Amino acid sequence: MEVLGIDVGGSGIKGAPVNTKTGMLTVDRFRLKTPKGAEPEAVAGVVTEIVKYFEWTGPVGIGFPAPIKHSIIRMAANISPAWVGINADDLLTKATGCEVSMGNDADVAGLAEMTFGAGKGQYGTVIMLTLGTGIGSAIFHGGKLIPNTEFGHLQINGEDAEAGASDAARQRDELSWKKYAKRLDRYMFQMEKLFWPDLFIIGGGISKEHEKYLPLLTVETPITPAQFLNEAGIVGAALAASLKK
Ligand code: BGC
Repeated sequence: MEVLGIDVGGSGIKGAPVNTKTGMLTVDRFRLKTPKGAEPEAVAGVVTEIVKYFEWTGPVGIGFPAPIKHSIIRMAANISPAWVGINADDLLTKATGCEVSMGNDADVAGLAEMTFGAGKGQYGTVIMLTLGTGIGSAIFHGGKLIPNTEFGHLQINGEDAEAGASDAARQRDELSWKKYAKRLDRYMFQMEKLFWPDLFIIGGGISKEHEKYLPLLTVETPITPAQFLNEAGIVGAALAASLKK
């Protein structure tokens, strides 16, 4: 089946139709800037523009940077607080005229990697971390996802891990790859001590530059870059929506 996958990120909102059997984009992706403040109506407007760009009328899956319980947005770290309490599926379904189903961005990216990418065939404990504006997380065991983990908000030195070890923090503090790797290592060491995973998958904006920092990490758990790199969110959003059907 074909589903329009859309990934709502801190800086961009991008989408493409996805064949959910193969995990392949069927047309090149289209990206627009995330509106300043990421207010609900403005984000709904951009999502609608993407739907129109593809002249889409079928199902739409959206990966969104917040925990989402039974379609309700529960927390807002890098988006407007106005989202909290909103039924996001309803809002976006009304705005686009398509049947929309949303999931946490890291959860759906993890789903794409476990189904088609770096986590395929891995039945132990796998943790996917997405490094972008924040740090997103998804944890799998026996191939099953426990949704809505928020490991980017683990406290490291009295602050949210994502405040120091996200890609946005790397850019903000103008860190060398060596210095950034040190921060990421400290965070992943804590994750390792808490969960003893069999594999870490690293995704998000900087996964395409993985050679610059992954070899510098010292955690004992094997680490692999996301195979879909930054496209995991689009593929996973479509896949998650198809599984709800
Ligand atoms: C949010 C998560 C999200 C992550 C990556 C965090 O700030 O709380 O829900 O998955 O950023 O976008």
